[in-house]
Amino acid sequence: MKIMPSILMSDLARIADEIATIPSADAVHIDVMDNHFVPNLTMGLPVVEAVRAATAKPLDVHLMIEDADRWAPGYAEAGAKTVTFHVEAANAPVRLARELRGKGARASMALRPATSIEAFADLLGEFDQVLVMTVEPGFGGQPFLEPMLAKVARVRQLADQLGIALDIQVDGGISLDTIGGCAAAGANTFVAGVAVFQAADPDKMVQALRDAAQAGSTLSQPGQHEGSN
Ligand code: DX5
Ligand code: ZN
Repeated sequence: MKIMPSILMSDLARIADEIATIPSADAVHIDVMDNHFVPNLTMGLPVVEAVRAATAKPLDVHLMIEDADRWAPGYAEAGAKTVTFHVEAANAPVRLARELRGKGARASMALRPATSIEAFADLLGEFDQVLVMTVEPGFGGQPFLEPMLAKVARVRQLADQLGIALDIQVDGGISLDTIGGCAAAGANTFVAGVAVFQAADPDKMVQALRDAAQAGSTLSQPGQHEGSN
């Protein structure tokens, strides 16, 4: 159960200090947006490089950008441990996943809420992680989309059938109320923005989220991914 706080809604002028408030975090999640793939503009490669230099934590980079084939490899070169690109924005997802792995990063594909995993099921062996978006990408602080639990369960089922140890990440609206159901459905990696950085004690919240995910995962039964809270 890995908790990866998103710095999107943190104080970006004090990013090193903000990351220092979450020593229990497993990684730092960075949301790169280009105002084309999503209607918002955030940070790019120079900021990721600056964060890389400011923390020893692994970086989990989430690219919400067009033309992922062109831009994603640069984030692997910048030292991201995991590079997530949206399959909707990649022309050659297998080639790109192999390129990312060749540069030493873990390859991860993201699915918008309306994108089904089925068309990509045969590609899962090329990836280390699948990100099931639990909000429409673009903004922090949106409400969790409950119907995504079925997709999480389906991705876990496909990974089990293939016999691969795939990380399944959820991102958007993750809180103490929603994380248990995601874990029960088969997620094992959790991004949380507002829940962590607007908590009175961000590090305690990271630990509480991990405990809640752990508790939720014990509710899951093989073949019975109900996905309730
Ligand atoms: C949304 C981003 C998320 C966002 C999550 O497009 O991918 O990582 O920061 O924020 P919360 O946890 O506040 O929904
Ligand atoms: Zn994200």
